[in-house]
Amino acid sequence: MSDDSRPSPSAAPSAGRTAAVIPAAGRGVRLGPGAPKALRALGGTPMLIHAVRAMAASRAVSLVVVVAPPDGAAEVKSLLDAHALPERTDFLVVPGGQSRQESVKLGLDALPPGHDIVLVHDAARPLVPVDTVDAVIEAVREGAPAVVPALPLADTVKQVEPAGAPGEPEPVVATPERARLRAVQTPQGFDRTTLVRAHETVTGDVTDDAGMVEQLGLTVVAVPGHEEAFKVTRPLDLVLAEAVLARRRLNDGF
Ligand code: C5P
Repeated sequence: MSDDSRPSPSAAPSAGRTAAVIPAAGRGVRLGPGAPKALRALGGTPMLIHAVRAMAASRAVSLVVVVAPPDGAAEVKSLLDAHALPERTDFLVVPGGQSRQESVKLGLDALPPGHDIVLVHDAARPLVPVDTVDAVIEAVREGAPAVVPALPLADTVKQVEPAGAPGEPEPVVATPERARLRAVQTPQGFDRTTLVRAHETVTGDVTDDAGMVEQLGLTVVAVPGHEEAFKVTRPLDLVLAEAVLARRRLNDGF
């Protein structure tokens, strides 16, 4: 799939070729019954294709690695072949694992040499704008080993003692100061060596990749995220995603 005769994306302002790994191997049970979440349609196009296009929209991204459901790599390959994607970007598909962490590791293992910056982007965040992707890459280029796009919270957050059974009242044990909290999105951006080391070293359960870099004792920085980079998790998120797409079509014929 790789084509060395293509011009490298020299529009990229400084060194640091960027690859994006998209974990798309989750079942998405919270979305209700049906196909794996990444393959569900949004505006008539699979969510995964939106996510792939969102990464490839950045001129700095020269390779996108999609981590497919373990038994769905062939299907994902034909899906990518069937949709128009930018010529300047290469694509690879690898089968995923049991956890998101394992899926990202399998994607990293498949990366060829020559990409110094790696983005990890949830297939479940199909609508992240390219400016957010570029802001993350830029912060890595400027020297941060790990970068997360993040937004302030609208809700106050409580820490609770989880109840034994679902629906039971849960004692509140703390209220962190809301102004210091951020909701973290993807793509998260990394110096490749740092991310590989984090995946080789950290074995505990994590919900994002930057958390693994924190466990190495390295600095992670947050840059402004975007409200359209929300994660499609529950049925209502699909309604919102369709509305965002409809608004884009109205505004710019997207
Ligand atoms: O489950 P969660 O919403 O946190 O999943 C985030 C992303 O990780 C999704 O894009 C999902 O497809 C992916 N994932 C994966 N492999 C798994 C579980 C989740 O690639 N085993």
